[in-house]
Amino acid sequence: MAEYKIIGGNPLIGEVKIEGAKNAVLKMIAAAVLSDEEIILENVPKVSDVQSMLQIFKDLGGEYKEEDSRLILNGAKIHSYKLNEEITKKLRASIVFAGPLLARFGRVQMFHPGGCSIGPRPIDYHLKAFTQFGAKIKNYDKYYEISIRKPKGTTIYFDDVTVTGTENALLFSVLAQGESSIRLAALEPEVQDLIALLKKMGANIKFHSFGRYEVRGVKKLHSAKHKILPDRIVGATFAIIGAATNGHIRIKNFLPEHNDLFLFKLKEIGVPYQIYQDVLEIFPHKSLKPTKIVTRVFPGFPTDLQAPFSLLLLQAEGKSRIFETIFDSRLKYLLELKKMGANIEIIDNHNAYIYGPSKLKGCEIKSLDLRAGATLVGAALMAEGNSTIYNTELIERGYENFSQKLVLLGANIKELS
Ligand code: EPZ
Repeated sequence: MAEYKIIGGNPLIGEVKIEGAKNAVLKMIAAAVLSDEEIILENVPKVSDVQSMLQIFKDLGGEYKEEDSRLILNGAKIHSYKLNEEITKKLRASIVFAGPLLARFGRVQMFHPGGCSIGPRPIDYHLKAFTQFGAKIKNYDKYYEISIRKPKGTTIYFDDVTVTGTENALLFSVLAQGESSIRLAALEPEVQDLIALLKKMGANIKFHSFGRYEVRGVKKLHSAKHKILPDRIVGATFAIIGAATNGHIRIKNFLPEHNDLFLFKLKEIGVPYQIYQDVLEIFPHKSLKPTKIVTRVFPGFPTDLQAPFSLLLLQAEGKSRIFETIFDSRLKYLLELKKMGANIEIIDNHNAYIYGPSKLKGCEIKSLDLRAGATLVGAALMAEGNSTIYNTELIERGYENFSQKLVLLGANIKELS
């Protein structure tokens, strides 16, 4: 178990470079199952979830080589369709191995994936998609056995937008015979980046303006090289923590078009910033205004920024509202902020009011998931006095060298493992 000892009060000053997107690279590792040639990924973030996905890839028989932030994958020797139980139980993204294994072997044995404790994390949309493709699903008490005789394209519908559900359908349909149309698809930049890699591998995927992906299956996918897009959630998290400590920071590798709603909200509450090319510069502010945050699928306000953004609502002068529409229990971190003295009213699992400005006092808190963990680090940095944050290994799942980067910006953090 890792923990951070933090002394709050220092405004963050300086420049930070943002790494490649965790939620893009994890699925690209699964995409390497689809080819027996080399897939080279660049700008790979050094986060523990990547190591977990590589462990599963290796268990299946895949080979890989890491050269700093470059990753060379080769799925030629993959011989198994059984996913590693221990890792899949911890890692939600592991579910996207199902689509490529079904496409390659016509079979996959998978356990119910785990992941951050932000809600039940069901997989019914994924199973329904595979059933629509013609797969048979046997549900044993501990795992699912999914099989399909002839991977054939079809039109599949999702009951609601699902990021990994869309990715599983894409990763299956690119090798399925004939045409597929994936309806009510997720449009997140990370999904688009996965599509960019698949097209470089020879996949035939077109975007239809009704929010669909039209796929024409091909016989084989070949080698490709791809530079992963910057992590928009990590970039925005640093922008928020920089503003929350009333600092002055420059964030490199920040693509404004991937953070449209976030920037709109930042401007609306009064955080002064400037953008030139792929740099976001945050300046100190006098006072902040309250607002309402409603999380939505892309291009709406991202659910992964709901917790971090609360740090700025705590400083706003007045009553702000949070409406978390995507997950059923992603407000628990507010209880940790209340321990620090925040004036928060939790209405139900989806709604809360934040009354600012709230002065925070350092104390002992624990991170519940990676985004809540990053939020609590920001809260401790803006609080008066000392804080200890437990379970910080959860943060390392998706934030590369998080405490080191913050220390370089002037934060007083000691990491204890
Ligand atoms: C992805 O999770 C991301 N994870 C999440 O990021 C992100 O918060 C989420 O998309 C939403 O943007 C990865 O890409 C690895 P969903 P995913 O399927 O695909 C319900 C982070 O912090 N649902 O889009 O699991 C589900 O419960 C993580 O990096 C079903 O009911 O999310 C949720 O309420 C956290 N049945 C909603 O749909 C299903 O079969 C959206 O989930 C699937 C999902």
